[in-house]
Amino acid sequence: MKTLQYPYAVETENVEKIYYLSKQRGENEHSELIVHALKGCTFKIKDGEFVSLLGPSGSGKTTLLEIIGGIVRPTRGNVFFYGFDLTAIKAKELALIRLKAIGYIFQDFRLIPVLSAFENIELPMVFSGIPREVRHKKARELLKMVGLENFGEHKPPQLSGGQQQRVAIARALANDPMLLLADEPTGNLDLVTAMKIIKLLRTIAKDLEITVLLSTHDLKIIGVSDRIIRIRDGVII
Ligand SMILES: Nc1ncnc2c1ncn2[C@@H]1O[C@H](COP(=O)(O)OP(=O)(O)OP(=O)(O)O)[C@@H](O)[C@H]1O
Ligand SMILES: [Mg+2]
Repeated sequence: MKTLQYPYAVETENVEKIYYLSKQRGENEHSELIVHALKGCTFKIKDGEFVSLLGPSGSGKTTLLEIIGGIVRPTRGNVFFYGFDLTAIKAKELALIRLKAIGYIFQDFRLIPVLSAFENIELPMVFSGIPREVRHKKARELLKMVGLENFGEHKPPQLSGGQQQRVAIARALANDPMLLLADEPTGNLDLVTAMKIIKLLRTIAKDLEITVLLSTHDLKIIGVSDRIIRIRDGVII
């Protein structure tokens, strides 16, 4: 579902993130720990590209994806989503863009354990006001797309890691996003399952014309991407 004619899905300009952790030692003793997670990241992702963000643990991949996905605000710098400055808009507008146009697959899935796979996939469509019949049809299609048509009634704790990963992918696609952000979508999987998931993502992205940015520290799975962006210690290299 493409409506915007703009060459870049994502543009970041000097994005910095500083985390401040304060620690109370004693009555009057107080120290502050500063983590400079991103130190000025600038890059562009073209509309329709499939890009891997490659970097070791702690290099800032999750932080960067969360900032692009509008989940976390940067300390400095700008993020443009199809030309819209996400850092300049109000929280309410940002939440709407997140709901309607950006699919996010969390490193730890974040599925709702008391809801079935079907209901987890349906939930973003409930939030965006899709009528019941339409969203049920869509949830069934998505379950099928990720090969879980027989697991719709299972709750996340009753699914394997790879199956939960696929539910998370299906949920991220529920509202037909323009951009899919996938944080280590193969991090918890064996190589064979990992390759299957990556190929699935690749096929979906192509069929549905979705731009994808996925993070990984695994060199073996980056072969399928159009381009690799490398990050180290919060710097794009
Ligand atoms: N909420 C937070 N508060 C404080 N520091 C944080 C927070 N989130 C991340 N950090 C720090 O920022 C740095 C980057 O973390 P980030 O999670 O972005 O790395 P990552 O590349 O995703 O690592 P991994 O591959 O292990 O998932 C780390 O030093 C981390 O400890
Ligand atoms: Mg991470």
